[in-house]
Amino acid sequence: MTKEDAKGNEQVHTDFKERMTYGEYLQLDQLLSAQKRLSDHHDEMLFIVIHQVSELWMKLILHELWAAVHSIRKGEMQEAFKMLSRVSNIQSQIIHGWDVLSTLTPAEYIQFRDKLGQASGFQSYQYRMVEFALGYKTPHVLKIYEKDPVLHKELKEAYESPSIYDAAIEKLMEAGFPINPQLVERDYTQIYEADPSVEAAWAKVYKNVDEYWNLYQLAEKLVDIEDWLQQWRFRHMKTVERIIGHKTGTGGSSGVGYLKKVLDHRFFPELWEVRTKI
Ligand code: HEM
Repeated sequence: MTKEDAKGNEQVHTDFKERMTYGEYLQLDQLLSAQKRLSDHHDEMLFIVIHQVSELWMKLILHELWAAVHSIRKGEMQEAFKMLSRVSNIQSQIIHGWDVLSTLTPAEYIQFRDKLGQASGFQSYQYRMVEFALGYKTPHVLKIYEKDPVLHKELKEAYESPSIYDAAIEKLMEAGFPINPQLVERDYTQIYEADPSVEAAWAKVYKNVDEYWNLYQLAEKLVDIEDWLQQWRFRHMKTVERIIGHKTGTGGSSGVGYLKKVLDHRFFPELWEVRTKI
């Protein structure tokens, strides 16, 4: 029961001398003092906040994804599905960030772009870890963070670990599908390449949904995640095009040309291929 004063207003807690406040619990002093503009341009605040918000969401995505890999490998499929649904919902949130960023015009961005030097989202280690968790292993981020041994170790572990798709393939094998044995003994630092035995297994799952309900659910959750990630990549590419046109990126790439090229990469190739085949 809440208390009310004489005028009928609710009495809320105001004495926090001995108690933890909301701000203390969330360490807002640290979080909200990390938006340090390098220029005095008004719009740089948007640029910093949108990146930080994206990184915070990526932190939660990684938390959920690695836990989902663990659950799948233990056979706790319902737990994994719940976490993967959460990942998709986070991804749908992040995508709306592009609408906000699109209010930044080329004329505004150009006024503080030089301040970034060679810093670029290309060096986002959390983004690379998301790619690692999904099986897209590119080593350049390891080189970039050699100067930070703790982070480097974490990145290396993620780089060398089986991805969520490797865990899904293990499940196909456990269900009795004749999966190419080389796939489960493979070098996990290599980018996953489509295999006919995996495609045949998924085709059977999609044709016999009732019999393989859990595998079917898993396949669809993975497709959700890849679909959202591709939509993120696409919106990033178009937003970059409207803000910097075809200028080269601060990270050293061709810019939009590079971002268009990464759109071609598929994380779970057989799950896309199977849609044509069944
Ligand atoms: C004005 C806004 C932005 C511009 C102009 C921009 C531009 C670019 C460019 C040109 C690249 C290619 C690499 C390079 O040469 O730099 C890139 C990569 C990247 N950016 Fe952005 N970006 C913007 C906003 C964002 C935001 C808000 C995020 C959210 C975290 C982000 C995350 C990334 C990531 C993760 C990559 C690597 C993509 C990959 O390798 O597949 N960017 N960006």
